[in-house]
Amino acid sequence: MAEPDLSLLRDLAVDTACEAGAALAGFASRHAAGDDLGFATKTTVSDPVSEADRAAERLIADRLAQARPDDGLLGEEGQAQRRGTTGLRWVVDPLDGTVNFLYGIPAWCVSIACEDDDGSLVGVVHDPTREETFVAVRGGGAVRDGAPLAVTDAATLDRTLVATGYAYAADTRRDWAEDVAELLGTVRDVRRVGAAALDLAWTAAGRFDAYLEFGLAPWDWAAGRLLVTEAGGVVSRPTRRLGGEPRVGVLAGGRAAHDGLAAWLGGRPDW
Ligand code: IPD
Ligand code: CA
Ligand code: CA
Repeated sequence: MAEPDLSLLRDLAVDTACEAGAALAGFASRHAAGDDLGFATKTTVSDPVSEADRAAERLIADRLAQARPDDGLLGEEGQAQRRGTTGLRWVVDPLDGTVNFLYGIPAWCVSIACEDDDGSLVGVVHDPTREETFVAVRGGGAVRDGAPLAVTDAATLDRTLVATGYAYAADTRRDWAEDVAELLGTVRDVRRVGAAALDLAWTAAGRFDAYLEFGLAPWDWAAGRLLVTEAGGVVSRPTRRLGGEPRVGVLAGGRAAHDGLAAWLGGRPDW
């Protein structure tokens, strides 16, 4: 396979995420004005999807197919999955933070990554509400609107602000909530923003010291993982038994915060 031109992939991801973000902002305005966006539920009754999620995914899939017809595509709503023949695959969460979007809480984003067999080559998280675009290129660093990103160097857990989230399955979130109750007594504090891709982008930007959540799908973290590693952080995939099943998680942060949380997890019995 010829070496891919990373700046072309990056520009395509940025342009596409911004275009999808503008379309979603239009849906958000119409929703605020009283339009029902055809909300339905997916994996559980807590897990919503709307016409906005689907329209954003169609837009992204169309733009990527026009520009890169032979690449693979994995999108959360599953409307345009393709295997591809180039060895590259786009991993897309067209709207991360759908519950926030549904309630008018301004914490949702578009997440687009392009990966090869070794992981993400480029990762873009676009936040239309704050007009912030977080961009990472493998080996090329991570930026927010051109300014370099760096994870924090929080050294001890009592100085570590941790972002987390809860999967949609009730048993898993109950068990994790009990772990989080313990964590609250150990770390500086815990935040639950409600959009995993934003959590990772904000960890890369130093707004959180670390991020830890179980039961994510690849589209939730494909872009954010590269943002964190290119911002000098560490990302690992711990496994924990929650809700009676082994769940793979994402643990991200600066080296000390990451290792401190890994040790904390390792010291806890599984559920
Ligand atoms: C969800 C959000 C949430 C996380 C869930 C994800 P969605 O994605 O990222 O913060 O806790 O695990 O499924 O459904 O809004 O795209
Ligand atoms: Ca998501
Ligand atoms: Ca989503």
